[in-house]
Amino acid sequence: MLRRVKTAGMVSGSGSNLQALIDALADGRMPNVELSLVVSSKQNSYALQRAGQNGIASAVVERRIFGGDSLAFENELLFHLEKYEIEFIILAGFLTIFTSSFTDRFKDRIINVHPALIPSFSGKGFYDLKVHEAALERGVKVSGATVHYVNEAVDAGRIILQKAVEVLDGDTPQTLQQRVLKAEHILLPRAAQMAAEIIAKEKP
Ligand code: GRF
Repeated sequence: MLRRVKTAGMVSGSGSNLQALIDALADGRMPNVELSLVVSSKQNSYALQRAGQNGIASAVVERRIFGGDSLAFENELLFHLEKYEIEFIILAGFLTIFTSSFTDRFKDRIINVHPALIPSFSGKGFYDLKVHEAALERGVKVSGATVHYVNEAVDAGRIILQKAVEVLDGDTPQTLQQRVLKAEHILLPRAAQMAAEIIAKEKP
């Protein structure tokens, strides 16, 4: 029986993807994940309440407090990650880009969910509704969700899973976002389990 890998979920928003992870843990879909910590980049994100309601420790690390000092920001993150001996990080709507020193330290240990089929509508500046606005503007008939490993380049790490979502006539950025979110909620726990299982096998 493979062990559970100590995992942190990082969030900035409502945390519906975090909820999908919590639900997957509850019904046994992530047998190699232990969700030990939630880190929020915003003081009052609803995701923090979800963590509290489910007995998961949480920390707030706000980037703006550190101004442009990425190193200081990441050092503060590391402080919390080390405290909980975190080996694996799931970015579930965490709106911050890491330096290469952070991503190198967690090579193949950070995954992210992106609300489009990478490489479309991805990279710097493509986040939240902007992704769906760009997809509708371009007139694509299919969008979707991607879970990928995180390296120093934005949205450019190895792809783990993708799921297509049809674009419907009359879609607004909001309606497309809602449909894509449903795909994210299916994909993220699956990809998280796949990545955690690899870590558990590497270090039994
Ligand atoms: C999701 O669309 C995710 O792909 C993006 O940010 C959004 C987060 O939503 N990176 P939530 O906080 O999980 O509800």
